[in-house]
Amino acid sequence: MKNYKFPKDFMFGGAAASTQYEGAYDQDGKGLCVADFKTYNPNLDRKDTKLNWLEMSTEEYLKNKNNNDGIFPFRWGIDFYNNYEEDFKLFKKVGLNTFRTSISWSRIIPKSDGVVNDLAIQHYKRIFECAKKHNIKLVLTLSHYDYPIWLLEEYNGFLNKQSINKFLEYCKVVFNEFKEYTTYWIGFNEINLTLHSSYTGAGFTIDENDPNRLEKLYNAVHNQFVAQALCVKLAKEINPENKVGSMNAASHSYAASPDPKDALANLKYSQINKWFFYDVIADGKYPKYMWKYFAFNNIKLDYNEEELKILSNNTVDYISFSYYSSCLNKFIDNSTNLVKYETGIKNKFLESTEWGWDIDPIGIRIFMNELYYKYKKPLMIVENGIGVDEKWDVNNDTLNDTYRIEYLKNHLKNILLAIYEDGVECIGYTMWTAIDLVSMSSKEMSKRYGLIFVNIDDFGKGDKSRKIKESGKWFKLMSDSNGSKLW
Ligand code: BG6
Repeated sequence: MKNYKFPKDFMFGGAAASTQYEGAYDQDGKGLCVADFKTYNPNLDRKDTKLNWLEMSTEEYLKNKNNNDGIFPFRWGIDFYNNYEEDFKLFKKVGLNTFRTSISWSRIIPKSDGVVNDLAIQHYKRIFECAKKHNIKLVLTLSHYDYPIWLLEEYNGFLNKQSINKFLEYCKVVFNEFKEYTTYWIGFNEINLTLHSSYTGAGFTIDENDPNRLEKLYNAVHNQFVAQALCVKLAKEINPENKVGSMNAASHSYAASPDPKDALANLKYSQINKWFFYDVIADGKYPKYMWKYFAFNNIKLDYNEEELKILSNNTVDYISFSYYSSCLNKFIDNSTNLVKYETGIKNKFLESTEWGWDIDPIGIRIFMNELYYKYKKPLMIVENGIGVDEKWDVNNDTLNDTYRIEYLKNHLKNILLAIYEDGVECIGYTMWTAIDLVSMSSKEMSKRYGLIFVNIDDFGKGDKSRKIKESGKWFKLMSDSNGSKLW
């Protein structure tokens, strides 16, 4: 029987994002952010999961902006803002030694005038002191799907190159103010999702039938790459000990069949949705296949030689990613210069969640191998978990989430196998999520991922009480044993 343990100093814990759990959207001078205008739809069809759930058209944004009756779940979250002391005690009880969270840009800089909100700085310092008190290390993300609304309204988000400097002004404040609390940073959360949502991923609205949609999305991605690279540079100027990663959604996939045509479809899907992003962030270069892709799609990228130099001189120190699922790709045709394929086909070998996300623990091992041996940089898995609609069992005063224990156990075993049997270097794992919070894509509170249950429903009703699920008790035993309890 195998009995691998996580290496000494392995960062082992949970993750969360400010906009999904802080709430307090109008407290202490916070400015509004893009998530504050997203509404929950009680008639949502969970089976109809689409990445464009993250998107918001100009029309919808304007409608939501003037809507006083909508359900805006990101405005209340789980009120971590006012509850963090109790929550950190619970984080310790469920065995976290590391916590990945994000800082809210619109709290720190509420308006486009650039004035720093001292109340926000003091608040985050209190939170980070609390983490220190509990001996919980921090990994801090600078931007996690919460662009300030002024960035959208006055700059058009990352479609506009001026956003690069705005982002760096914010990073400078954060790196200086919070430098004593961590040396591990992440620039943007899941840059590759910008291709699916300009609003959530890059802070601007665009219509589905905009004739230049693709060109605009790639230009925003390019500007984010430059901002990310300059953020690496700045972090090191402020503290040479700083280590900066960026973060992509894993987008791990397979060919839908052994037909070489499907293998070609999968290769193309992987280049566009996955490797391109790591090639730039970790290797510092635009790959040739992307220049071809841009040419065949008539995409004009607004870039200059200086920016390309910035990208190649400031790559990430470690590669972080989120991993929830995998997908299948099927060839359609290649009668033009482009290979057309269908993605998201159901994999008959895998079970899926109620939201249709295939559960693929072996996939994480395969993906870690691919990633590590391609770029040879340490990996940090910063999100991995299962969303389930669950209720607290009042009669037995428990929530027996065996499926979550199974999910985490199977993924963690495969991570250990990648480390010990395949030689992959992995420095950390923060599961999604330590505590129930609002789902980013579906905006439901009832899509729960936590080790800790929070009594709030989709409409923000409930007494906000927190209780540890069975998975939380299991996570503590497992983390205290450094993973040996997995086997
Ligand atoms: C990741 C995001 O893609 O997936 C998180 O970084 C998100 O913000 C998580 O919450 C789970 O997705 P969802 O849509 O179920 O909340």
